[in-house]
Amino acid sequence: MLDEIEKIEKETASIHFADAESLEQFRLTYLSSKGKIQHLMDAFRNLPGEDKKTVGKPLNALKARLEEVYKISKQQLTATSGTENKFDTTLPVSSMATGSSHPLKIVENTLCDIFYSLGFDIADGPEIEDDWHNFGALNFADDHPARDMQDTFFIGNHVLRTHTSSVQIREMEKRTPPIRLVMPGRVYRNEAISSRSNCFFHQIEGLYIDKGVSFADLKQTLYYFVQQFFGEGTQVRFRSSYFPFTEPSAEMDIWAGTDTEENRRLTKGTGWLEVLGCGMVHPNVLKSCNIDPEVYQGYAFGMGIDRITMLKYGINDIRDMFHNDIRLLSQFAGL
Ligand code: PHE
Repeated sequence: MLDEIEKIEKETASIHFADAESLEQFRLTYLSSKGKIQHLMDAFRNLPGEDKKTVGKPLNALKARLEEVYKISKQQLTATSGTENKFDTTLPVSSMATGSSHPLKIVENTLCDIFYSLGFDIADGPEIEDDWHNFGALNFADDHPARDMQDTFFIGNHVLRTHTSSVQIREMEKRTPPIRLVMPGRVYRNEAISSRSNCFFHQIEGLYIDKGVSFADLKQTLYYFVQQFFGEGTQVRFRSSYFPFTEPSAEMDIWAGTDTEENRRLTKGTGWLEVLGCGMVHPNVLKSCNIDPEVYQGYAFGMGIDRITMLKYGINDIRDMFHNDIRLLSQFAGL
């Protein structure tokens, strides 16, 4: 009997089945009630006790192995060949919810695309900043009110950046002019939270440093941006302003009009909507970054992404953008 067991072992040692038919043949030959294994089992029962000891173990092992081979081969064959019978590919599929870009990200991407088309690269920097990059290098005096606890979140001797202008500094420290970059990111300010202002929001910073850059270049770039983003024919105006890191400085408004109640509310009755701050990079800022202001000049601008997004999509409460409410987010699928 041991010989017979060994013979079957050899026959089936590296057995492989190409199709369900050969597998069935295998089952009939070895594992069915009239198969070779059952035959051996019957013979085993009639053996004298001594022989049972020597034969039992290898016989059981053989049986277990063949059953295992059968089970696995059957699984493999159904996995590879069963699909065309098992699935009706003409049935309509149940709808599957997919993610979509957040409205802020959509607007950020649009802004980046517009400036990218003008030759601006994209950079980013850390949200936790040191005093030097957020304030010092940007020509903020030591007693400037923006450093005050009321506006700035402090983490030990670091701050949560209050604007993306910190990234200007990091990039100017790293690069040599010409530098042409936009830098989007999240910023933080310790402000009272309301429908129109939040303790964190998003900005995109622009920076261009080269020889012979003028305010006219700045105006033309921003003018082009406005036409692309807000539509052809959108009017703009520049109002003089103050930032420690630019001189001269300006704020740019776009004409929204006073025709509708909504426009009068948004523009406080003036028809003009403030969109961004800008100016020529202050010589002290260039010096802080080891760029010679006698050789290079440049402009910078920074704008809030949240407000523009709310304007574009008619979102009335800034906080709605951060509740992760699927009813709001799903409206942006495919954009
Ligand atoms: N950093 C300024 C702000 O947060 C915006 C700005 C950027 C102004 C660059 C001028 C130049 O308000």
